[in-house]
Amino acid sequence: MSKEPFIGMDPEEFRKTGKEVVDWMADYLRDAEKYPVFSRVKPGDIKGQLPAAPPSEPEDMESILSDFHRIILPGITHWNHPGFLAYFANSASAPGILAEMLATTLNVNGMLWRTSPSATELEEVVVDWFRQMLGLPAEFHGIIIDTASVSTLVALTAAREAAHQQVRERGLSGRADLPKLCLYCSEHTHSSIEKAAIVLGIGQDGVHKISSDAEFRMNTGALATAIEKDRRDGWLPFAAVATVGTTSSTSIDPVPAIADICQREKIWLHVDGAYGGAAAILPEMRYVLDGCDRADSFVTNPHKWLMTPMDCSVLFTRHVGTLKQAFSLVPEYLKTTDGSVNNYMDWGVQLGRRFRSLKLWFIIRSYGVHGLASMIREHCRLARHFAARVQADKDFELMAPVPFSVVCFRYHPAGISDESSLEHMNAQIMDRVNAGGEIFFSHTRLNGHFTLRIAIGNIATSENHVNRVWELVKAEGDKLKQR
Ligand SMILES: Cc1ncc(COP(=O)(O)O)c(C=O)c1O
Repeated sequence: MSKEPFIGMDPEEFRKTGKEVVDWMADYLRDAEKYPVFSRVKPGDIKGQLPAAPPSEPEDMESILSDFHRIILPGITHWNHPGFLAYFANSASAPGILAEMLATTLNVNGMLWRTSPSATELEEVVVDWFRQMLGLPAEFHGIIIDTASVSTLVALTAAREAAHQQVRERGLSGRADLPKLCLYCSEHTHSSIEKAAIVLGIGQDGVHKISSDAEFRMNTGALATAIEKDRRDGWLPFAAVATVGTTSSTSIDPVPAIADICQREKIWLHVDGAYGGAAAILPEMRYVLDGCDRADSFVTNPHKWLMTPMDCSVLFTRHVGTLKQAFSLVPEYLKTTDGSVNNYMDWGVQLGRRFRSLKLWFIIRSYGVHGLASMIREHCRLARHFAARVQADKDFELMAPVPFSVVCFRYHPAGISDESSLEHMNAQIMDRVNAGGEIFFSHTRLNGHFTLRIAIGNIATSENHVNRVWELVKAEGDKLKQR
């Protein structure tokens, strides 16, 4: 088969195959539940079915699609399955998928305003809608980045720039004039903060982890003491990261008190609301972002809890000038004469940028703010419903408060206090339920205890699924008791 020079396929064949693919997508999204949620393949199973070398001659779409179904699908863990309750469950909503198809078709690179004015201007508008939805102040300007990990890296680079140590120009290594830079976060902070420090040359030694209270929130007294001591010891504190919705337990750090300390100490406050931030679109949950209006930067991920297909993270900052000072570097071939427009390539690491604002625009318009809020409200209700069942059962215990849609709990029957037995039993419960194919959930560790974790975040997860996971977990617990 010869390939059309432009789109790599005869346009009529593209139309026909495209319709078949969309038909399959619609069936898949409707029937996601018929697949085992957790892929059952063994390591190497998929690779073993794929040729080690690329084909030298063109292959037809029929055989490529047939291999997609036969080889690739069995190795998929179905994040679209309503029984997906692991990590932070997410949703690829239909409006988001349609927008992704269009964005891919247009294939624009939104690096400069002129490389697609709509990409830049839609991003500016949609990100500002999102700011309003979250109740953040008008001084915050936003940019869409792939992930919260990279958003945080970008934010902390700006924070390093704000410390006025000329790191952009002179680097960090071999500088006798430069004190050691450090930043603060709680012991429950996401690993992306430490990774950003690694990339930024701060090093893991420069990440000073602050203890937390019984509800996994940063101890602000300990933060103030650490900054004071570090200054005495010759460190240069330059940033603190607070989290709204920590990864393990979804705890909320006391942002207002952290903001007071950062203001007093003149250090950058970055707030990681990758998961929890979205809840602020509910009027009754707006309090989760208390104090975030005083942050220097704030990140939240529509691809976590806002029905947006991977990937989409929004970074807000009130210091666009500092961000640009940290990153803007314009070679001759990218120079433009119109100084009045926004070129998003100046705001971060990457030059090429996908047209991600299109999906956020489709989603916000097709659900409306109220529609998005009701989904999050329902997820939080389901989490409280599950937590109530855990609390009512004498063989189980809740391991953390439930401020959002995640429940941390464990099996802990009377008479068993040995931690390694408890860990073994809980791991067994999790593995057995996950092997069934109906539900997939994951674990974490809190205060040293192996903890089961149910994360409700999929658009199709209903009370029936939440009741079912409880039934399955309970049944596995009962089996352990009978042994
Ligand atoms: C609190 C928090 N921050 C950051 C991240 C990293 O998000 P991403 O996968 O978008 O880099 C996560 C991921 O779960 C998270 O829970």
